[in-house]
Amino acid sequence: MKVHEKMKIGVFDSGLGGLIITKSFVKRLGKYDYLYLGDTKNLPYGEKSAREVLDYTIEAIKFLIKNDCKLIIIACNTASSIALRYLQRVFIPDYAPEVKVLGVVVPTVEEAIACSSKTIGVIATNSTIQSHIYEVEIKKINPTVDVKELATPEFVPAIESNDFALAETYAKQYAREMTEVDSLILGCTHYPLLKKFFEKELPNVHLISQADFMGEKLAKYLNRHPEIESVLSKAGKREFVVTKLNQHYSEVAKKLFEEISIKEINFL
Ligand code: DGL
Repeated sequence: MKVHEKMKIGVFDSGLGGLIITKSFVKRLGKYDYLYLGDTKNLPYGEKSAREVLDYTIEAIKFLIKNDCKLIIIACNTASSIALRYLQRVFIPDYAPEVKVLGVVVPTVEEAIACSSKTIGVIATNSTIQSHIYEVEIKKINPTVDVKELATPEFVPAIESNDFALAETYAKQYAREMTEVDSLILGCTHYPLLKKFFEKELPNVHLISQADFMGEKLAKYLNRHPEIESVLSKAGKREFVVTKLNQHYSEVAKKLFEEISIKEINFL
């Protein structure tokens, strides 16, 4: 791939939940061009094996690179947990060393630690929790912090089917296990939509919701990396593609990102 002045910011997610974080990028950094890819054909990643998540993520990253993305953010917590390290250390240096791939786990951990938390709770999909990536990254920065990880697999299906009453019931139940934490990481693309429920249940806990700070984190990253920033195109264009599109996905996409025009592509 040739680096030219038409390079986009790629955002990858297993589905449409990543639109929530994309909104925070677009709100903070509206002048750049974005290409969003949601692998709706293969979701949910949270219930897949590590091998499957890695294989799907590699194919997605190849697609974004072929479509002129210079900087790629893996918005999916499950894919960030399982695939990011391999991509950064092995795949990208060989396949496209000029491309940068970032995830959501480390910036989220930094945000939780900045709240001077002594005990940090993490809720996420089964696969993310099984990877223990949040605990590992928290301990790397501060080994004295206690980490309480909890898989909360019911939330994604409840949110995807628009059943927020059910999501609230689960939030109440899971909140009971997190009353002792200082901060609670909402470690999944969909969970910013649950923040209001946890606020009610855990009023004294800092809720670490990626939609609140990832736009600012990306802005700071671009400030620190003028060599990337300078080749990004700035026409304010947004393209959204998914690997499977149907009526349901179109409706979910419209709810999460008004004015969206989304199309299906066939490669995964
Ligand atoms: N995007 C996933 C995540 O953030 C949630 C949906 C899925 O399981 O695919 O972990």
